[in-house]
Amino acid sequence: MTEQSPALDNLLTESRTFPPSEDFAAQANAKADLYAEADADREAFWAKQAERLTWDTKWTTVLDWTNAPFAKWFVGGKLNVAYNCVDRHVESGHGDQVAIHWVGEPGDTRDITYAELKTEVSKAANALTSLGVGASDVVAIQLQMVPEAIFAMLACARIGALHNVVFGGFSPTALRARVDDAAAKVVITSDGQFRRGKAAPMKANVDEALEGAETVEKVIVVKRTGDQLEGDVPWTDGRDLWWHELVDGQSEEHTPEAFDSEHPLFILYTSGTTGKPKGILHTSGGYLTQTAYTHHNVFDHKPGEDVYWCTADIGWITGHSYIVYGPLANRVTQVVYEGTPNTPHEGRHWEIIQKYKVSLYYTAPTLIRTFMKWGAEIPEKYDLSSLRVLGSVGEPINPEAWIWYRETIGAGRTPIVDTWWQTETGAIMISPLPGVTSTKPGSAQKALPGISAKVVDDQGNEVGPGGGGYLVLDKPWPSMLRGVWGDEERFKDTYWSRFKDQGFYFAGDGAKYDNDGDVWLLGRVDDVMNVSGHRISTTEVESALVSHPTVAEAAVVGATDPTTGQGIVAFVILRGNAVDGGEEAIQALRNHVAKEIGPIAKPRQIMVVPELPKTRSGKIMRRLLRDVAENRQVGDVTTLADSSVMDLISSGLKSGKSEE
Ligand code: WTA
Repeated sequence: MTEQSPALDNLLTESRTFPPSEDFAAQANAKADLYAEADADREAFWAKQAERLTWDTKWTTVLDWTNAPFAKWFVGGKLNVAYNCVDRHVESGHGDQVAIHWVGEPGDTRDITYAELKTEVSKAANALTSLGVGASDVVAIQLQMVPEAIFAMLACARIGALHNVVFGGFSPTALRARVDDAAAKVVITSDGQFRRGKAAPMKANVDEALEGAETVEKVIVVKRTGDQLEGDVPWTDGRDLWWHELVDGQSEEHTPEAFDSEHPLFILYTSGTTGKPKGILHTSGGYLTQTAYTHHNVFDHKPGEDVYWCTADIGWITGHSYIVYGPLANRVTQVVYEGTPNTPHEGRHWEIIQKYKVSLYYTAPTLIRTFMKWGAEIPEKYDLSSLRVLGSVGEPINPEAWIWYRETIGAGRTPIVDTWWQTETGAIMISPLPGVTSTKPGSAQKALPGISAKVVDDQGNEVGPGGGGYLVLDKPWPSMLRGVWGDEERFKDTYWSRFKDQGFYFAGDGAKYDNDGDVWLLGRVDDVMNVSGHRISTTEVESALVSHPTVAEAAVVGATDPTTGQGIVAFVILRGNAVDGGEEAIQALRNHVAKEIGPIAKPRQIMVVPELPKTRSGKIMRRLLRDVAENRQVGDVTTLADSSVMDLISSGLKSGKSEE
């Protein structure tokens, strides 16, 4: 571990703990004995969790790990994932229960019961089938948070097709890369989306992305902004279809087919250490088992009583696992909100919580810090007394934000569950159990029952209390990724080669134990940044920058940012032909990155420099650049090939700095 992270400092001073109240503990889904039960017989424990689902054919073997790192869970079992998330709740007499309280950004709302969800998903499944989409075909989805996004995902699951959801904020270039890599046959999008009160085009971007895309046969377009969007929606006859025209006339009957437990469910792309995003592959039975198990126990969810709200976007894994699959498998009633938290005002979330009596709320530290900035007087105007569990995910939550969350939003009453996991893990891995754990601000604490995680040193030996190192997962888990789409080698290299001898999964995060053996996450140890809880690789942004004709070389670092966790700071060397490094040129570069990857990857700052600090072997020393980006005294420069470089950079900076 080279970096001193803020979490590490907190660790030295943080001694507060918050045990659950007796009342909460008494009614909790998960009791303390869950740990012992899982330890006594892990496979029996997971089999019991899998039994919470409805299987068409029961498995014969819980886990086959003989071909590690390729796991098979619930071998021989067959189920339909969509049936488990929808139909079975209707069959058990809960057709009238609201599954989704949908809230549109402009204020329109729609309540969808389980019976209605079944109808919508069945029609959408019939629609996809009518287009020739079958089991194992790939459907790309780029949609904002509209109900059709969830219908579409479940419709894919129902017919055994894989969805490949691409976050709405990704650029046409990024969408195209994800469509091509997965060979998507159909793309589902919308005409436009409401963003901060304005209608912005979606379909036009998708068309730009799909120009010449060979695998795409049909594009289905949800009408969302309609007349409010300026200009016509671009249309390709023969390829494009309106969702309502295609879906509305379909039969409401659809018989779900049972698929193998290991049948692929979806691909979701995430940034790794290279410029090319990885298509993370998840399969059916194990994934649904663990997402449902964790949602039940970590959020203490009571079907038919709680109102749950996960504020993530379905474009990320949190939206997949904790809006769609886990919660719906557990017969949730949940809020799905389309818009931004400050439209039309900064109390929007609290207003929604008050209106729907939300009891379980799951969000990200970056948003909590934003709420803090907006001021406690805003949530104080609303009745938040329905809340009983608060969750956090995406990055380490600093104790200050944690305490604010508990005091201001949770009235000092609600347990906070700080949940560590990844796109690759599929479901929550390390988290308190709200009725069991005495929580500690800033620590995700312990692996859940049935999960095993360790902090190890360079050699793979577990460190002792107080020790720091790398976070590894030393035993397979049901919702683990089954591979990187089309790239077996990359799967093995990225996750399984660092501690090959021990057979550990390397998560890419630094971590530390405190003296109680609780785990503290310290951020990524690789070249992946975490900006507002979104993973972006430094190489990805560097590649985008050097693809601009004025840039000769680029180096990107993640610098600590009070709101977004990390902010992207780029150092660029311009080509000889570039006019200057003035404000306009820098804006152009920032926009170029937004166009190549998406606005989320736009550098916070771009500094034009005459040289980059490199070792004698040519490796860029990001540590030094981070010192500059964080306005620190520049550290040890003795390994630099040319030690005067840092002086050059510091003096050159005065000219080329840009901030939003
Ligand atoms: C970080 C999001 C500390 C971590 C579910 C991980 C966290 C990466 C936490 C995965 C947490 C996520 N505490 N760090 N509670 N949750 N992270 O794939 O660095 O978008 O490796 O999945 O986010 O990000 P991903």
